[in-house]
Amino acid sequence: MSIDQLAETAQAMVAAGKGIIAIDESNNTIKKRFDGVGIECTEENRRAYRELLLTTPRLGDYISGAILYDETLRQKTAAGVPFAEVMRANGIIPGIKVDKGPMPLAGFPGEVCTEGLDGLRERLKEYAQLGARFAKWRAVISIGDDIPSGTCIEANSHALARYAALCQEAGIVPMVEPEVLMDGDHDIDTCYEVTEVVLRSLFAALYDQNVMLEGTILKASMVVSGKDCPEQASVDEVAEMTLRCLKTTVPALLPGIVFLSGGQSDEAATAHLDAMNRMGPNPWPLSFSYGRAMQSAALKLWSKDIAGNVAIAQQTVFARAKDNGLAALGQWVSAA
Ligand code: 13P
Repeated sequence: MSIDQLAETAQAMVAAGKGIIAIDESNNTIKKRFDGVGIECTEENRRAYRELLLTTPRLGDYISGAILYDETLRQKTAAGVPFAEVMRANGIIPGIKVDKGPMPLAGFPGEVCTEGLDGLRERLKEYAQLGARFAKWRAVISIGDDIPSGTCIEANSHALARYAALCQEAGIVPMVEPEVLMDGDHDIDTCYEVTEVVLRSLFAALYDQNVMLEGTILKASMVVSGKDCPEQASVDEVAEMTLRCLKTTVPALLPGIVFLSGGQSDEAATAHLDAMNRMGPNPWPLSFSYGRAMQSAALKLWSKDIAGNVAIAQQTVFARAKDNGLAALGQWVSAA
């Protein structure tokens, strides 16, 4: 695969007014979400739920791609059509989560490093055959007393860069995700400092591993106040500080940046993205790759009647996609 083809996919992922829906929860994570609304976490319920999301009418108007979990990429609609095919027919690019999750970092209590590099070359080959055109790897950085350590940041950046290089070798666009968690009572300045160090380390590692930035997408966490910080930054402060942090760390050559929602409310995730785009023009398209902020309202509705509430839950998914698509253009109008 040439760099031109990778670049073309990356650009399509951040096409104007479109973003990504993240539905790549591992079976453990989706169980937690299902438990929260009283749905049994069976393979069939997971399949039915992902079918609901992926067959939302006109989802492709605002969604360029969806990140799936291994099981989902192998599943089909009730009518027997593989999900990857349904997505392509709706103009939605299939993506796949390829990391194996964060594991405790030996010697560094309270810190984790994402695993999954062993055998990744072979897995990527198979995922490409199954139709995946981009892949995601999430590193998790926590803020706390004396953490994150430089070792944790470097170990995660190294793994992200190794994964990204392997993706490009397989003709798959890497979506590199170093998530700085919102958990904690730290202030927004601390989040800024940590995010800046993390992004500097990541782009240095990508450079070291010969990763082509033209064929790479960054999935970033926003610069926000810790969840338990008594002083919560305003929408404009979050937007201004996130933009400043990205501008000082991320090369302009990158085709685009998408954000995770990370536990923000639906409204906040949309408002922050919208504010950043209103503050543009920016060096890159800024869009979304939300999981919870795209799905939680729909999941709640669906859980009340999983046979009868499919259409109404899909309307909610579409509404969230539309709001976030407008926010990616800086054209969202709050209903509040
Ligand atoms: P959230 O938007 O729920 O944080 O999920 C996005 C994601 O893919 C995290 O890896």
